[in-house]
Amino acid sequence: MTVTSIVFENWRNIAAARVEFSPGINVLWGMNAQGKSNILEGIYFFARGRSFRGARERELVRFGEPFARAALSFRREGYGSDTAMEAVLPAAGKKRLTRNGAPLSSSAEMLGSFRAVLFTPANLSVVTGGPAERRSFLDIALSQISADYLMWLRKAVRLLAERNALLKRAGDGERVSPEEWDVYAEGLAESGAWIAAYRREYASLLSRAVERYFAGMTGGAEKPELTYRSHALPEDAEPIGLLTNPGAAERRRPDPGPLYEKLRANREREIAAGSTLWGIHKDDLLLTLNGREARAYASQGQQRSFILSMKLGEAEIARTVSGEYPAVLLDDVFSELDENRRRYILDALDAEEEGSAASRQIIITSCEPDVIPGARASRVCFHRVEGGKILEGGT
Ligand SMILES: Nc1ncnc2c1ncn2[C@@H]1O[C@H](COP(=O)(O)OP(=O)(O)O)[C@@H](O)[C@H]1O
Ligand SMILES: [Mg+2]
Repeated sequence: MTVTSIVFENWRNIAAARVEFSPGINVLWGMNAQGKSNILEGIYFFARGRSFRGARERELVRFGEPFARAALSFRREGYGSDTAMEAVLPAAGKKRLTRNGAPLSSSAEMLGSFRAVLFTPANLSVVTGGPAERRSFLDIALSQISADYLMWLRKAVRLLAERNALLKRAGDGERVSPEEWDVYAEGLAESGAWIAAYRREYASLLSRAVERYFAGMTGGAEKPELTYRSHALPEDAEPIGLLTNPGAAERRRPDPGPLYEKLRANREREIAAGSTLWGIHKDDLLLTLNGREARAYASQGQQRSFILSMKLGEAEIARTVSGEYPAVLLDDVFSELDENRRRYILDALDAEEEGSAASRQIIITSCEPDVIPGARASRVCFHRVEGGKILEGGT
């Protein structure tokens, strides 16, 4: 998967620009606050359906302008032509999204076409922050590679909001029929069982990848491990091959029983609390180093190697599941790494693959142009970013 070009109009500080990317390594470089991250934010918008910096859509509109527009062209491996996606975000009113000219009804419908993995320094909070950060990591990664996962997730989010509102109304004395409670318990148990099964399988694939990358990066003896902890699954439930063997998964539906029972048995407590206390919205992805929680016990260097290994694993799993390597975007991470780690990450991302002529695309932002060590530096495509303008070359 390679980005061919992106066109911006009134996108953040970019009044009008067109950037053409090479299929290999691209470096967007320039001083601070010139628009480098704004470009990656635009590219990743099409993979994630929203800003990675948590900005609202109208904040992406250039100050004082009526709308922002971004148009991405990308090439899928083995395809003879580009796919075009466009987003028009008005300062007020409804956004317009299209793929090859055909309208898309929502951001969710956009996901799964253009796949990218983004590395930013803020990713560290996946290791150091709370469970919500880790669930969000899983949701973003899985939504891009499984339409089925995204469907269950949207359903679960909607049902949870509705049930929480119902619990509050019941707390205020509204009478709710047993049938209505049951519709929610069943719906949340079923969607929760699927989501937990996907997440557990993802965690198990990722755990293996992280072990390999972490060892390669640190040369250390500590063993990292990722384990998915869920209300919706028995601790010993084995992955059922939803991602790696989808045909077999059809015959082995995950069991909604454990979560259904919890939701039925504890409703009075939930009414008192005014919210749903059991479910995948309380689950966690446990990250450990030699059996101890990385958040509490790992050094800062180890935490950073942990998240970098997770990101390399995310790209690898996207490749395994979708058959194609995603575009890789690195926002400001290279400047904080020593040369050995830069080299290790490039070796891992840029590895020659047997039987595949496809190149792997990497787009990096940096304050200095010379961030790529070794022989690779000679085949980097440079783009200088200055005051919202993008100039080719520049070294
Ligand atoms: N909606 C907007 N309209 C105009 N300029 C914006 C908007 N949002 C952010 N900016 C400007 O974009 C610049 C930051 O760009 P960014 O891509 O984050 O910089 P960097 O090159 O350091 O990555 C700042 O100068 C900021 O004022
Ligand atoms: Mg930046």
